[in-house]
Formats: sequence, structure tokens, C-alpha cells
Amino acid sequence: MSEASVGVCQLGYIGIGVSDMAAWTDFACDVLGLQANGSSGDGSLYLRMDEYHHRFEISPSGEDDIILHGWEVKDAAALEQMARKVRAFGLDVREGTAEEAARRMVLALIKFTDPDGIPTEIYYGPYLDHRPFNSPRGVNSFSAGGLGLGHIVLGVDNIEEYLRFSFMLGARISDVIHFPSPNGPLPINFLHVNPRHHSLAIGPKPPSGKRLNHFMIETEDLDDVGFALALAKKRQLPTGTLGRHTNDKMLSFYVHTPSGFRVEYGFGGLLIEDEELWQVQHYSEPSIWGHERP
Ligand code: FE2
Repeated sequence: MSEASVGVCQLGYIGIGVSDMAAWTDFACDVLGLQANGSSGDGSLYLRMDEYHHRFEISPSGEDDIILHGWEVKDAAALEQMARKVRAFGLDVREGTAEEAARRMVLALIKFTDPDGIPTEIYYGPYLDHRPFNSPRGVNSFSAGGLGLGHIVLGVDNIEEYLRFSFMLGARISDVIHFPSPNGPLPINFLHVNPRHHSLAIGPKPPSGKRLNHFMIETEDLDDVGFALALAKKRQLPTGTLGRHTNDKMLSFYVHTPSGFRVEYGFGGLLIEDEELWQVQHYSEPSIWGHERP
């Protein structure tokens, strides 16, 4: 593979800094159905959703926001090539130490800060847990594996610069939704790095200054979305209605996390099976139906 064409192949993990670990542990395990899978030793919690040892690291650092995103490449050669690309883009890159790699449970990683100031990692060689995924509330399975953990939607200060950064990583535009807003249409760019319709979406930063609008996780059984929705309502969590998105056709609902940002819990998202045939489109609404806010 030429250096220009090397790119990340999935959103592997994210770190979230939270102010209430107990509420997050309860929410993540007993509402979302993620599996607690140990701690990195400083009070943070690993959460598992598939064969990967963990996909989420919840840390008691109080930001109530995303504090890390980690992107996978296929091997050591691709990691070296990506280090050169990120450096050529103008960011300071350093190799992760053996201790840092061990903490993430990967063979090697590089570390830098994205154009919006979020610590970012690229790694290869994730540790796969040989024990079966075991959801504490009986979710059958999440759609993850080679498609990555799901997607994140980020609000950034400079959208054009963040898009250039995303293209450098290897992401491609799937489509754009011009969200209706009181101040006129608000463009959100959706980007893919593998067949999942989007692993990343980029919009303007909200007045709160928080970067993470939401993350999305996808089940492989529609009933698991229904169970989660019923449970969220029973617990009287701020929960939206079911809906289907215009662009990725995801059937999903949104629920507020203990940090205030939302989780999208979905089923049946579109896959971009053939990159060569995909054409960029745009929409004026995020949903075909539903997705009413709490
Ligand atoms: Fe989403």
C-alpha cells in the first residue's frame, strides 16, 4: 500500500472522563448492556462490547466529555506510515511507551493531539479476549468487530481544519445533513473509514464547549434496542423516541448519559459495501420519522 493511501481502518476505542463513576458503571452495564472488564489500575473502568478486551475506558477525571479517541491500523508498517503522515500534517507525534501500549492492551501505538485538542491515538494489534462477551443485562451481541465500536459525533471549533485532519487519517465523506436550526441549516459531515456508514461525524462546537455530542452503539437484534428503550423509560432517564435516520437508515433512540451528552442505541445501520460505487449525498433532515427529543 502506498503511503498516500494508508489509513485507519476502524474507531477502536474512546476514553470518557466522568464526574460520577458509580452512575456511569450502572448506566453502561445495566442500561446499555456493556460488560465491565477490569480496571487500568487508576480507578478507570474498561467496558467491553465484543471480542476486543475493551472499547470504552471510563475515567473519574470529571470532564463529562470525550478525552481520547483511538483508531486502528492493520499492522506495524501501517502504523509507521501513519506516524509520518500525521507529522507531515503538522502535529507533534510521539511513540507510546511499552507501559502505555500495555494499558491500552495493544501491541504498539502513537500519540498526538487532534486539531481540536483531543488526545488521539493510532494503534495496531488489539488484545482479543478469548472469553465470550457476556452482557450483564443479556444483550445478545453488538455490531462491532472490524466495523469498530460504533460512531462518535464531535463538535469542533474549526470544521474545515478538522475535515482536513480526518481526510489525512483516511476517512472519506459519506454524506452531509443540513440540520434545521433557528439560525439556519447546520451542516454535519458524516465520514467512514470502513463499511460502517460513519465512524465519525463533525459539526460545530455547541455553546457548552463540550466536544462529544453523542456516541452510537449498534445491536445485532432489534429486540435489544426495544429492551434498552423500555429499561431507560422505566428508570425515567431522559429518553427520546424511536426513529430512523435519513442517511445511515439506523433505527435508534437517544438517551442521556450521566455526563449529560447522549448515547444513540441502534440497529440495522447501512453498510457501504462498495467504496467505488458510493456517491456523496446530502439531506435536509436527520430522520425519516421519529427521534423526538426527550
Ligand atoms: Fe448518531
